Amino acid sequence: MAARAEDLRDPSAAGSAGSGRGGAEGSGGSAWLGAPRAPGVFGEDGEFGERAALAADAGDAVCRREEFLLPPAPASCGYPEVAYFAGNSLGLQPRAVRAALSAELDDWALHAVEGHHRAAHPWLPYHAELREDAAALVGAAPEETVVMNSLTVNLHLMMATFYRPAGERTRIVIEDHAFSSDSYAVRSQAVHHGLDPDETVVRLRPRPGEDCLRTEDIVDYLAREGHRVALVLLGGVNYLTGEFLDIPAVTAAGHAAGCVVGWDLAHAAGNVPLALHDWDVDFAAWCSYKYLNAGPGAVAGCFVHRRHVTDPELPRLAGWWSTEQATRFEMRPELVPVPTADAWQISNPPILAMAPVRVSLRMFAETGMAALRERSLALTGYLERLLAEVARDRPLEIVTPADPARRGAQLSLRVIGGTDAAAADAAAVAARLHETHGVLADVRRPDVIRLAPVPMYSTFHDCWRAAAALAEEVNPV
Ligand SMILES: Cc1ncc(COP(=O)(O)O)c(C=O)c1O
Repeated sequence: MAARAEDLRDPSAAGSAGSGRGGAEGSGGSAWLGAPRAPGVFGEDGEFGERAALAADAGDAVCRREEFLLPPAPASCGYPEVAYFAGNSLGLQPRAVRAALSAELDDWALHAVEGHHRAAHPWLPYHAELREDAAALVGAAPEETVVMNSLTVNLHLMMATFYRPAGERTRIVIEDHAFSSDSYAVRSQAVHHGLDPDETVVRLRPRPGEDCLRTEDIVDYLAREGHRVALVLLGGVNYLTGEFLDIPAVTAAGHAAGCVVGWDLAHAAGNVPLALHDWDVDFAAWCSYKYLNAGPGAVAGCFVHRRHVTDPELPRLAGWWSTEQATRFEMRPELVPVPTADAWQISNPPILAMAPVRVSLRMFAETGMAALRERSLALTGYLERLLAEVARDRPLEIVTPADPARRGAQLSLRVIGGTDAAAADAAAVAARLHETHGVLADVRRPDVIRLAPVPMYSTFHDCWRAAAALAEEVNPV
């Protein structure tokens, strides 16, 4: 992919790369060059031309777009499918999911209760089949991961164990731009412990005039105030700005101050390479419906570091799936602890909801995060260059860090103005991108348009479509 990214910087090289299989669905994207639609503002040739984008997609071995279902685009835009940039909100459906779900329905019909042992993927140990792939995804040992519940529920289960306010060490540190669910979760934890949430929850703000948190500012805060902090709970990749925090540095700073450090990896899992075990993270949780493509409300994932999973003294909320499998049906009044993250399971897993996660995790294991990251850097770098060109004379600015190491796939674009009108413009622009151009991005309040080229299925041509559409919809000033 690196060579292909170079091609896009060098128009002459891009021109010689051939038309290849095109941008989407292997449907011969270059044929679109003659399609009856207005030529995009970037035109066909040159550094920012459509041909260069199509050439960059040619022969791509990492992109698995043909294995996904893409929504149709409005007929007027001249493309058969949407250019999908909302995979950071809800990933596309892998084609294989339908068969996987059908297989579970068939096994239920055929075996009924015996499916717990006789299904092709027996339901009793079903979650264990997902463990290795989930662990590889986040850089963990298999016994440190478990697929269960949903994200905010898992954060609460983790906090039930790891948020132990005592003495003056009561605070929970989150980022001011934390996703609302995390804010509500930590505030409710404070209340649960009889504490005042306004005093307990600290929201770290970027410096005035800046959008992203600086690692050194987080580290400074923890060095100064860490003795009052019980728990640091930050987003690995921020949902609004797309900033990828320095997880090992922040975790180390938290530990130096005696805090527990957990991570919400909703926007990081399947997006950026993670090494949770080596980074010494205490716990983490992530959802499976964004970059992991396991469907709306899909079953989430959870990581607990080995030093904790082997500690039977830790307080946990328990249910029958927390006890060891071998004696589960002896119905003892007291459970037998297991030295794995399974100990945080409570209920028996929802098999029909787990089947898409199994499909998805397999795809990530097959392709590997290293290859996906390499493609992602090229794809997002290309989109960034296009957007910078569009923003040059338009009221738009990229708020995501420019350093590729400090971001994942997502680029967040602010409609400049800081007014209600700018916020309304952001929503209107995103709506027109979809309705007129078949480019599906989203808006987060008040004025940010988010675009996430997803390395598993997005193409360079998608990026070109998005930038060309933006250039048409936002007038130069
Ligand atoms: C960063 C982050 N945290 C938490 C959530 C809430 O997830 P869930 O509804 O799966 O608990 C989301 C949802 O998009 C999110 O983006």
